[in-house]
Amino acid sequence: MNVVFLGPPGAGKGTQAARVSSCYGIPHIATGDMLREAIAAGTELGQLARSYVERGELVPDEVMLRLIEERLRNPDAEKGFLLDGFPRTLPQAEGLDALLDRMGRRLDVVVFFRVPTPTLLRRLGGRWICRARGHVYHEDHHPPKVPGRCDLDGSELYQRPDDRPEAVARRLEVYEQQTAPLLEYYRARGVFREVDGGAGIEEVTRAVCAILDTVGREGSR
Ligand code: AP5
Repeated sequence: MNVVFLGPPGAGKGTQAARVSSCYGIPHIATGDMLREAIAAGTELGQLARSYVERGELVPDEVMLRLIEERLRNPDAEKGFLLDGFPRTLPQAEGLDALLDRMGRRLDVVVFFRVPTPTLLRRLGGRWICRARGHVYHEDHHPPKVPGRCDLDGSELYQRPDDRPEAVARRLEVYEQQTAPLLEYYRARGVFREVDGGAGIEEVTRAVCAILDTVGREGSR
């Protein structure tokens, strides 16, 4: 199953992808996580990406398309993938279609997480991330058992530099200008589905799984 999670910053794409990808046996591919890992490791990609990411701007399309092509050609993505944070511009969406075409594949579903802006602001303001493996917490909705420590690996929790209010404001602007047009793009292709991403974490997981189950059944007919 080839799946895209689409939605504004803080919509819960990463939270839900981490909960559902293993149930469907597909890798969770989060371009934001890939860029943050490259930044932390100081690679050439990381050095290029740092200033864009920290200011809430998008990394150039050609860089992202190269990165995603390399990742989708990895054997673990042969049976499917769950993309989180990609595509987020029209050229990226067109580039993804062209790449999948060359690979003899196509997207099965794009799940859009609809969340009101005040909710997004509260989620991003209270988000904490684990330093070792990127597990995501929220100080009110999903707090760790021990404050400041990851439940799963005990590593330190930190707040992302792009969750500062000025970077968040820019990310929301960039989303409206460059990513929101993808809703129409995918509606026109008949693969668009929507969930109420403003609901609680469990409820959103149930809605997402209901969509993926239907798509899986249709695909196996
Ligand atoms: P990226 O890491 O992709 O950030 P984003 O799209 O802004 O999304 P977030 O990770 O902020 O939010 P999310 O929807 O995953 O929410 P989460 O589950 O964490 O990208 C970062 C940067 O990298 C970009 O700004 C750009 O610079 C660059 N980049 C990445 N991809 C790129 C691309 N394709 N092209 C160009 N540049 C690119 O949830 C948020 C919080 O809410 C958490 O604390 C969570 O616990 C809580 N929460 C989640 N769901 C719920 C719920 N249902 N109820 C209550 N709380 C909830």
